[in-house]
Amino acid sequence: MDSISIFAPATVANVACGFDIFGFAVANPGDQIILNRRDEPGVSITDIIGDDGRLPRETARNTAGIAIQTYLQHIGRTDVGVDVVLHKQMPLGSGLGSSAASAVAGVYAINELMGRPLPVMSLLPFAMEGERLACGSAHADNVAPSLLGGFVVIRSYNPLDVIRIETPAVLFCTIVHPDIEVNTKDARFILKNEVSLKNTITQMGNVAGLIAGLMTPDYSLISRSLVDVIIEPVRAILIPEFNEAKQAALDNGALGCSISGSGPSMFALSRDAQTAERVGAAMQQAFLSVGVTSEAYVSEINRQGPRVVEL
Ligand code: HSE
Repeated sequence: MDSISIFAPATVANVACGFDIFGFAVANPGDQIILNRRDEPGVSITDIIGDDGRLPRETARNTAGIAIQTYLQHIGRTDVGVDVVLHKQMPLGSGLGSSAASAVAGVYAINELMGRPLPVMSLLPFAMEGERLACGSAHADNVAPSLLGGFVVIRSYNPLDVIRIETPAVLFCTIVHPDIEVNTKDARFILKNEVSLKNTITQMGNVAGLIAGLMTPDYSLISRSLVDVIIEPVRAILIPEFNEAKQAALDNGALGCSISGSGPSMFALSRDAQTAERVGAAMQQAFLSVGVTSEAYVSEINRQGPRVVEL
């Protein structure tokens, strides 16, 4: 095989109560990457489409480039030459795991191109290198669900311990992306380093409740557990009309609603597609009331993760 094209999905990280430890993949949006083998060794980004020229073209400074490069070094194949074309099909700085989707698409694609020498789970550290580059922290709550599909728990970072959790057969996610940008580095910088015991206890209860609710499944428990008393109150100030958009989601039947990753996108979970669509429209209306336009995406949880796209 000399060429391959891979789509890797966007992700909702944190999922309210699980800062840096929960994430799930959605069906769309996502990023697509095309790799073409060439004779000359090395990884070269030949084109990036859809980023308005904002992403670095230099391999070592690009999340997909660095993921592919560290993978090839790891398997001892620095003799391989590959040209990379990246199609950004999702907004940058959106809280939807844009940098993660590119890194995952890249590392999944190169592993396929090399004849799949590593199992998918082993690709995670290479994709995490992309995250370290993009925002200074190698968090895995976007890359892991994008790579593995479904809902993922990062139980531990050192050593890395990643668990895929079953989710209800019927569960819809609404994502609303207001047309503003939040830089993940900045959104991490404003967080407090210390947390009260009271809030820790509340958050642990919700973390445990959400996992139990997803696995049972118990929609009412999921709903009661989609509460974040630590991160959301700090980051909400970065999102105009956050409280109004969240209330609109809940008033229209969402099980819960919070910030997607580091924002500004917000997500809501619902029991059916019709509710999820209505929730999206209501949230968009809340943003529009202060002149902020937005995009809404509704999909089920994506259990597949990356997939091959016909060239
Ligand atoms: N867990 C990370 C954060 C996700 O909230 O900063 C960033 O996409």
